Amino acid sequence: MATLLAVLTLATSILAQADFTGTGTISVWNSSDWRTATPASSLGCLSPTGKFIAPSTNAACGLFTRSDTYPYPLSTKEGNCTFDDETQERNTESYHGSQDHAYNCLKPFEADVNQLYTITGFPYTFLCSGDVDCYFDARAVPAPGSSDATSIWPFRWGSQQLGITPGHTMLQLVWNKIADVEVEKRAVAGRVEWRRGAELREVEVMG
Ligand SMILES: *[C@@H]1O[C@H](CO)[C@@H](O)[C@H](O)[C@H]1NC(C)=O
Ligand SMILES: *[C@@H]1O[C@H](CO)[C@@H](O)[C@H](O)[C@H]1NC(C)=O
Repeated sequence: MATLLAVLTLATSILAQADFTGTGTISVWNSSDWRTATPASSLGCLSPTGKFIAPSTNAACGLFTRSDTYPYPLSTKEGNCTFDDETQERNTESYHGSQDHAYNCLKPFEADVNQLYTITGFPYTFLCSGDVDCYFDARAVPAPGSSDATSIWPFRWGSQQLGITPGHTMLQLVWNKIADVEVEKRAVAGRVEWRRGAELREVEVMG
């Protein structure tokens, strides 16, 4: 894990911050204010199915690719990622978000214009959805190093519920760009290799 973290840190520090393109992972930060959020607020990442996980190794984090053609779908090996999959559980405890469906990556699923995006001026590449909603809501936080996977929804507020749903955690999603183009992640005899075509990009030694 230390090896990959070092590689990811190097990759993200070289690349411009508000650059939501190419391939990367998505960190999940405990944050209710983008101005004070730092990597120390990180609780985990999104899995290949778009669920919030806190794995013992970053190799379990989903590898996301943002298409550079309209409507710019974000996908993993599981398919296109969306808040519009009606098979996903709703945020029932939320007053204003009770109709929202959890994030999911699936196929086949035709992505529409309703995609995650970022905003210039953030200190990190925070992702937003809908009408400038750059915060998210989780009912549960996965235990560090566990195999727990929990749902995330957009953060909603309004006159009936001004803050985060009671008992839930307010989150931000952060893009960690790894490459401009798609890289492939492969587990090979005790290590994980990230390749672009035949070119070996990064290696993470497992365990
Ligand atoms: C998230 O941050 C809030 C405010 O600092 C804190 O009360 C809460 O315990 C944190 N939650 C987790 C899961 O770290
Ligand atoms: C993902 O969405 C795009 C854009 O709508 C579509 O062209 C593509 O076929 C979808 N992919 C899958 C695997 O469903």
